Amino acid sequence: MDGTFPDSPVLQKVKDLLGEEGFAQTFAPIEEASGLPNAAYWSDDWLALEREHCFRRSWVFAGAAAELPEPGDMKPLEIGGAPLIILRDQDGQIRALHNVCRHRGAKLVTEPCQKRTLTCPYHAWVYGLNGKLRARPHFSGPDITDTFKNGGGDKLDLVEARCEVWNGCIFVNVSGDAEPLLDWLAPLLERTPGYDFSSVRWAGKLEFEVNANWKLVYENYMEGYHVFAVHPKLLKFAPMNVRWSGEWDRHVFYNDYIFPELGEGRGDKLPHYPGLSEADAKRGLWFLCFPHFAAEVFPDQFTVLVSYPVAPDKTREELHVFLIGDAATSDGHAEARAELMQMWDDLNREDLAMLELLQQGRLSPAYDGGRLSPHWEGPTHDFGRRVVERILS
Ligand code: FES
Ligand SMILES: [Fe+2]
Repeated sequence: MDGTFPDSPVLQKVKDLLGEEGFAQTFAPIEEASGLPNAAYWSDDWLALEREHCFRRSWVFAGAAAELPEPGDMKPLEIGGAPLIILRDQDGQIRALHNVCRHRGAKLVTEPCQKRTLTCPYHAWVYGLNGKLRARPHFSGPDITDTFKNGGGDKLDLVEARCEVWNGCIFVNVSGDAEPLLDWLAPLLERTPGYDFSSVRWAGKLEFEVNANWKLVYENYMEGYHVFAVHPKLLKFAPMNVRWSGEWDRHVFYNDYIFPELGEGRGDKLPHYPGLSEADAKRGLWFLCFPHFAAEVFPDQFTVLVSYPVAPDKTREELHVFLIGDAATSDGHAEARAELMQMWDDLNREDLAMLELLQQGRLSPAYDGGRLSPHWEGPTHDFGRRVVERILS
């Protein structure tokens, strides 16, 4: 796309926020381009556009099904500013319900918990785990309880959001009209035919908070340019000369390398995917399915990094590790698992420190998006362009 869009109120808003020049630079060729202007990292109005267009209209990773092992296990999660409950219902099905009571709009669930029903803390309307209204005490007068055998219908039952599970990963599409999940994942799956993802099991997650914009997480994730300066251990494992810029294939960014030797936390102690080829046993691949599902594939794992915007300058990150078969849970692999988790924790913290510097730098009137490396940072620049295009699509 060349940056020409039909006039619309959203286009006007985008130009007001980014400025004409800032808007134009997003669509310039990489040699002349700058990154997104500072407002895209600091403006509440800009984040509101991203929440609506990038997050609610796409598939978003909502956690691992194994985090909710029993019926009644649930957790609150905000996607694109919409409060949701992710839960396992009585029949074992994972569902996403809007986290808001149909009476006066109280938020229902505020922390991970296990419950047999969803009872509103305000006037105690009771909903089943399938979201259907069951009872309304005192609603029609003192000591009268309205009961509902088959729910209360469209106006009274909790509103459900589209939710699917793929190999233990929960995905939610709030708007309900994104493409089928497997179509959305297709560019990733087409590049990984030798990996049996049905063999992966959830081994755990790490959580981080960073005082930086959510986009910086991915702009950093995509480029290997910073590795020599920021990640001494990772550099040893995969030096600069095995790296390239990666590329976008449809809405999915893809990068890979062939590493010289298996390394700590990457393939050296834990079992590999069944039937993995010799070539793939020395390959690391990483993807970003726009807007936020980042997945890294190594011979022994499927690791997910997702960022959830909290404010323009605040982001919650989750890193979920999936391992092959019983390596995810068995005592015999506990030490290797702990080592792997430590590796990811150390690596991510090295990045977080940089992200906060990038966020602070974007307060400066002397910065306008910067000059990017055509060798390394084409896809990073493209990510900003895709955010704008998504808002305008
Ligand atoms: S707001 Fe939930 S029962 Fe009144
Ligand atoms: Fe990094």
